[in-house]
Amino acid sequence: MLKQIKTAFITIILFSLVLSGCEPQPHVTEQTTEETEETTIVDTHSNDGRTVVGISMPDVLLERWNRDGAFLKEQFANDGCEVILRFANNLIDTQINDIRDMISGGADVLVITAVDGAALTKVLNEARAANVKIIAYDRLIMETDAVDYYVSFDNYQVGVLQANYVIGALLMVNSDKIYNIEFISGDPVDNNARYFYKGAMDTLDPFLEMNKIRILSTQSGFYETSTAQWSTDIAQQRLQIILNSYYPKGTRLDAVLCANDSTALGAAKAIEADYSGTNHVVLTGQDADIANIYNIINGTQDMTVYKALDQEAVVTVALCSSILDGNTPAEDLIEAANFSFDCSYDTTTYDNGVKAVPSYLLKPITINYQNLEKELFVTGYYQRNSSGLIYATK
Ligand code: BGC
Repeated sequence: MLKQIKTAFITIILFSLVLSGCEPQPHVTEQTTEETEETTIVDTHSNDGRTVVGISMPDVLLERWNRDGAFLKEQFANDGCEVILRFANNLIDTQINDIRDMISGGADVLVITAVDGAALTKVLNEARAANVKIIAYDRLIMETDAVDYYVSFDNYQVGVLQANYVIGALLMVNSDKIYNIEFISGDPVDNNARYFYKGAMDTLDPFLEMNKIRILSTQSGFYETSTAQWSTDIAQQRLQIILNSYYPKGTRLDAVLCANDSTALGAAKAIEADYSGTNHVVLTGQDADIANIYNIINGTQDMTVYKALDQEAVVTVALCSSILDGNTPAEDLIEAANFSFDCSYDTTTYDNGVKAVPSYLLKPITINYQNLEKELFVTGYYQRNSSGLIYATK
C-alpha cells in the first residue's frame, strides 16, 4: 500500500545556549498530521512553568541505588527542578508504573536505571510520544530507540580490574601453579553484567588457555554463573553448593571472582560456612559498599571497584541541563561542563540492539586495603564517627 503523504509541522523554539539548569523552559512541540490518521504528540510537560525530573531507581535495598537516588535528587533540586524519585523494589511492573506516573506527572526528562534492560520498550515509547527525554543511568536500556543518552562507568574495565586483581594477588604471572577459581556473575537481565563478565574473562583468557586456571564446578559461562537480582542469598547458596560438591577437604579454592559487592557478601558467608580449606580465598567486588569496606578491613574481601557515584550524578545533571536548554550535547559537553574528573564520550560501544546510544563514561578504580583510606576517607566519601563506625558523607 502506498504510503500516505506525511505533513509534519515542527515548531522549534530556540533556546538560550547558556546552560540554565532547571529554570522553567519552553519546549519543543511537534504535531504530525497524516491524511488518513491524525497523530498529535501530547507534550505533557511543556510550558507548565515547571521543570520536572523523574528518577527511577531499581532497588531501595542496595546501598548504591539509595545513594545514587539521593545524589541525583539533591543536585537536580539545587538546580531548581521538581524531582520525582521512585525505587522499584527490583520489580519490572513497579518500574513501568513508576515511569507512567512520572510521565503523567509532567516529567521533562527521565533518568532511569532499568530493573530489566529489555522490558521498558513500550513505556518508553509513551514517554517519547509525550516528548520526554530519556537518560539510561548506569545500566543501558535495550531494544528501543527512545533512549537519548547513556551515563555510566566503563563497565568492561570493571571486569578487567577485578581479573587483574586476582592475577596479581595470586602471583599468577610467571608461576607454574594451577589455580582453582570460581565465578559469581551479575543479574542476566542487567546489560552491565555481561560487560563485567567479558572484561574479566578476556583478561583471564591467556591463563585459561594455558590451563593455569581450573574451574572445578565447570560453571564458567555467563548464564550458569549469573545471580538473579544480584542477590546476596542466591550468590551464597550457589557457592555453598559448589563448595560442598567440588571442594572436599584438601581441595584448595584460590579465588572467587564476584561481579559486585552484594554477591561478594554472599561469597564471604559461603566460604565462612562451608569451605574446609585454611588458605585465604581472594574475593573481588564492586561498589565500595560500607559492609564490604568492613570486610576489606577485616580481611574477608580483597578488593572492590569504586565508582564515584557523585561523578555519575554530576554528569547526568549537566547533560539534562544542556538538553533542557535545547542543545544536543555530544563531546562538547565535557569541555563546557569542565568536569574535575575523567569522562569520555563514546558513540559506538553501547549498542542497545536498535542503535548505538551516545554515552558518557567514567573511570572506575580498584580499592583494596592499601588505598581505601586515601581514596575513600581522605576524599571525604566516607567518614568514621566517634565510635569508628563508617558512614557515607556524600
Ligand atoms: C551496577 C553495579 C551494581 C549492580 C547491582 C549494576 O548495574 O553497575 O554497580 O552493583 O548493578 O545493583
